[in-house]
Amino acid sequence: MAQYKIIMVRHGESEWNQKNLFCGWYDANLSEKGVEEALAAGKALKEAGIQFDLAFTSELTRAQKTLGSILEQIGQKDLPTTKTWRLNERHYGGLTGLNKAETAAKYGEAQVQIWRRSFDVPPPAMDESNAYYKAIVEDPRYANGPSKEEFPMFESLKLTIGRTLPFWNDTIVPEMKAGKKIIIAAHGNSLRGIVKHLDNMSDEAIMGLNLPTGIPFVYELDADLKPVVSMKFLGDEETVKKAMEAVAAQGKAK
Ligand code: 3PG
Repeated sequence: MAQYKIIMVRHGESEWNQKNLFCGWYDANLSEKGVEEALAAGKALKEAGIQFDLAFTSELTRAQKTLGSILEQIGQKDLPTTKTWRLNERHYGGLTGLNKAETAAKYGEAQVQIWRRSFDVPPPAMDESNAYYKAIVEDPRYANGPSKEEFPMFESLKLTIGRTLPFWNDTIVPEMKAGKKIIIAAHGNSLRGIVKHLDNMSDEAIMGLNLPTGIPFVYELDADLKPVVSMKFLGDEETVKKAMEAVAAQGKAK
């Protein structure tokens, strides 16, 4: 018996997704396609008659704009919204800004798959030579966190989960248990971490999960937060399958 229902959505396609660049904490904007995807997500939620009490998103523009578009369409543009770095995309470290296909050609597709989808193998660290180092490290949006000690220079999925899950457990779950209807607009890997936790997926199984951009999905949880309905997308099966395959294919050498 489902006690709780929560909606999650990966941001619409970003300009760096479109260019097939490792993005992570770089603050890429939505592409035109991503704006369209966000509109479609809002439309799907409106047609399903879904309303929310609270929203949670990351510090990154692509997730915030996706959420804003969705809320605008369902008539809840002023919904109380919490932004946190703990929902940010995984930090891609020294890969930030590199083309995924070119990186696969240089290091091999297997190595890129490990960097993109493994549980505990991190990408190489970002250092000051990375063109995007200063823009990320000196961004004023992080004035209230992460702390200097917490500020990542690279993240595996395990490290990402290590900073996302405390927020899930300490902030989102209590609101859900208080009966609040919640939407989370975040990123492919911060959401993979929540999904891995909810579905108790193995470190091997999570390697096969690629989340599509801009298609909301539902979890219905029992009183013990065990999934009764797991990752049910608000989109037709074929579209979702193709979108997941397209994300997976980003790591193929060209
Ligand atoms: C990025 O950060 O590059 C993407 O948003 C997620 O990338 P991935 O699908 O390669 O993990």
